[in-house]
Amino acid sequence: MNILAFMGSPRMGGNTDILLTSFLEAAESRGADVTRINLATQNISPCTECGGCDKTGTCVLQDDMTDIYPSIAAADALIVASPIFFYNITAYTQALVERSQACWVSKYVLRKGFLGGKRRIGIFLSLGATKGKLLFDGVLRVIRYFFDAVDADFAGSLLYRGIEKRGEVRIHPSALEEAQTLGRALASGSDIRKIDFLHRRTS
Ligand SMILES: Cc1cc2nc3c(=O)[nH]c(=O)nc-3n(C[C@H](O)[C@H](O)[C@H](O)COP(=O)(O)O)c2cc1C
Repeated sequence: MNILAFMGSPRMGGNTDILLTSFLEAAESRGADVTRINLATQNISPCTECGGCDKTGTCVLQDDMTDIYPSIAAADALIVASPIFFYNITAYTQALVERSQACWVSKYVLRKGFLGGKRRIGIFLSLGATKGKLLFDGVLRVIRYFFDAVDADFAGSLLYRGIEKRGEVRIHPSALEEAQTLGRALASGSDIRKIDFLHRRTS
């Protein structure tokens, strides 16, 4: 199991970092091969709408995303982890999402498929400070479309409300345990779609 994980928070040692680390360490403990990319320290431009991918399905911008496309293609599972910023994913995460436009063009305009046509699992991890009922509605739609562009089957998400201060996720009653359970299950090849907390929007 080759897992590629994107950390979308700029706050190292913060809540998303802790949640994602719990997940990835558990997956590694079951033999997964894990690559983690901290998006805030990458040089990834948003899509410039240059049209450079329109005829080839390949992005013409040269930055850190250039090496990430083949890593996505090789991955068996993609993990996107982002805190909520203004009811959205962070700008770092959004740049990654926008750059999947080249994959979308390849798939839906040029009908070429995305780098070989392999399918992969997609999982989203997120948390925010407030307890609003609709807190994750917008980002879930964004992530669903991102996963579709990169040929990932959206297996579900871990979503936690009421987590604000650095490290506060550690005192959440279930977050880290669920992340570890999910990481182990994914790496062990279990059918993770059957895990009930992956489909819960309130916690
Ligand atoms: C710029 C900014 C915008 C935020 N917007 C929201 C928001 O719209 N809703 C919310 O519930 N929390 C919001 N938060 C709070 C964060 O989601 C929360 O503190 C989270 O735990 C940060 O995770 P991290 O430690 O992984 O960065 C915002 C925080 C920042 C810095």
